[in-house]
Amino acid sequence: MSTKRHAPDTLCVHAGVGDNEHRAVVPPIYQTSTFKFDSVEQGASLFAGGADRGEGHIYTRLGNPTVQALEQALAELEGGYRGLACASGMAAIHTTFAAFLKAGDHVVCSESVYGPVTSLLNGLFARLGVQTTFVDSSDLAALRAAIRPGTAIVHIETPGNPTLAVTDLAAAAGLAHAVGARLTVDNTFMTPLLQRPLELGADVVMHSLTKFLNGHADVVGGVIVPKTEADWKLLRPTLNLAGGTLAPHDAFLVHRGLKTLALRMARHCASAQRIAEFLEKHPAVEWVRFPGLPSDPGYALSCRQTSGPGGVLSFELKGGLEAGRALMEGVELAVLAVSLGGVETLIQHPASMTHAGMKPELRRQAGITDGLVRLSVGIEDCAEILADLEQALAKLPAVQRA
Ligand SMILES: Cc1ncc(COP(=O)(O)O)c(C=O)c1O
Repeated sequence: MSTKRHAPDTLCVHAGVGDNEHRAVVPPIYQTSTFKFDSVEQGASLFAGGADRGEGHIYTRLGNPTVQALEQALAELEGGYRGLACASGMAAIHTTFAAFLKAGDHVVCSESVYGPVTSLLNGLFARLGVQTTFVDSSDLAALRAAIRPGTAIVHIETPGNPTLAVTDLAAAAGLAHAVGARLTVDNTFMTPLLQRPLELGADVVMHSLTKFLNGHADVVGGVIVPKTEADWKLLRPTLNLAGGTLAPHDAFLVHRGLKTLALRMARHCASAQRIAEFLEKHPAVEWVRFPGLPSDPGYALSCRQTSGPGGVLSFELKGGLEAGRALMEGVELAVLAVSLGGVETLIQHPASMTHAGMKPELRRQAGITDGLVRLSVGIEDCAEILADLEQALAKLPAVQRA
């Protein structure tokens, strides 16, 4: 592909593809743990920095052509320096924190984040001497108050998992940079097709590849895309030494999934919008959180900051937890399973599943009520997803539908 800057939909298809020995249109899977050196001298030169300059490969944990093809595609999509593919989204988040934090540092983190991120910061990083303040980052005054001299990272998930709270990234970048902190953003819910945090001032963006980017619920992976070469140079050795790199076959699958990302995201957004509107009007539903609804607190900001609301929504039924449980067991097409962003519609209960590891008071503070149900809307026929929810809601006891 030419060096011209292409539209994101085109990048999804062509970025990172490059050329190869046999002129294959799809980058081959280099399923190898190690690579031959021409000579001792060449091996030494690759170890001395030649591998990072693209002069050859050493060992798959340190770099692999199939993995690098995906890293390049994701860096182009996010507009960053270079990508670093990881074994999971959590590996991407852990590597980022490990690369930039030291004992005595302070982190400010959105309180509505993927549950294990709170455990990582309150557990492992607290043990290493890093203190974290969790804050409703959608409230800029609260975010400003939480950031202080000594804050090294402001970590934002927007929309947040699972409350869908929307944070102003440009404003957050200004607040973080004013004290010399980095802004790191988990862009998993949006993908670079809907939101590009680096263009809004973030320093590092990361994803769980497991979700929309791969899209087919058959790979666990992650990626980090820093804006600058300097940050890449801090992240690369941290990832290589900690060892949480992505395997070549998984990289191939994610790169394949990426090709249809634009089509899938358009369908996810359109169907989630219809479903959110349906749920909002349903008598059994107490409230719905979805940035595409004009009634959502994040609607106006989401319209400014993103090019679509995404495919995930959360809602609470009037009958609370009991009704939510009945709904999750009553659906027939939607699958009762954690994760999100795949082609199939998934339904789950954060308080007892993805966010069960969070302290109950932190969950409550973050708005993750015991009755909150999270729905990841798939690409099935939307009328059939709606009919499935309708029949499951109709089965709730009359009192819970009133
Ligand atoms: C927003 C977000 N970030 C990170 C992760 C962690 O990703 P992984 O499960 O690939 O480690 C998840 C998982 O659900 C997530 O939803």
